[in-house]
Amino acid sequence: MNKLTDGFYTSALSTGRLHLGCGRNVMPGWTNVDYEPQPDAFRWDLVEDLPLPNACVQYIFSEHFIEHISYSEGQKLLRECKRILKPGGGLRLSTPDLAFLINQYTQGRINEWHDMGWAPSTPCAMINEGLRLWGHQYVYDQQDLHRSLALAGFSRIETVQWRKSNNATFNDLEIRPYHHEIIVEAWV
Ligand SMILES: C[S@@+](CC[C@H](N)C(=O)[O-])C[C@H]1O[C@@H](n2cnc3c(N)ncnc32)[C@H](O)[C@@H]1O
Repeated sequence: MNKLTDGFYTSALSTGRLHLGCGRNVMPGWTNVDYEPQPDAFRWDLVEDLPLPNACVQYIFSEHFIEHISYSEGQKLLRECKRILKPGGGLRLSTPDLAFLINQYTQGRINEWHDMGWAPSTPCAMINEGLRLWGHQYVYDQQDLHRSLALAGFSRIETVQWRKSNNATFNDLEIRPYHHEIIVEAWV
């Protein structure tokens, strides 16, 4: 522990809810973490081990973040999430879907993300940009993400609907408009 991690540690234990790769979405009642943090979020490079003890939080949420770290870093982060979740705790993840990108490509469709300001010029540009722009390092499909969560030790891994959950804490959390992301909940 040091000055950097003290506040993070105290906040995580008191909120019991961790929001990884929060960007500008600093959620009240959560411990928000990013390596370029907004005020009231904590700075941490999420490819490093989390500076938290085993079984200390109940919920972890992350939207459009895991695709920004490499495959091996993502596998490690999922193991870290499993380690710090209490028994019965859950992780909710939202990330772009490789299968949807490829499906759009094969149909020659490029307009899906215009509302987000992403207007690729061709299907070929769409695939290349979808895999590489914004710092994307590894884009999952559903099977790969479920497998990664299982390998990290999670049980009860479910694909769920945008902004919907059987658990009240995970309801209505995504801030991004729906573009066929993979959204999963995985439980310890
Ligand atoms: C596409 S943004 C998503 C932000 C927010 N979750 C949202 O949906 O608007 C990805 C975020 O991940 C953060 N990020 C990328 N790599 C990171 C790392 N290694 N550790 C911590 N944060 C990281 C970036 O700073 C950025 O805020």
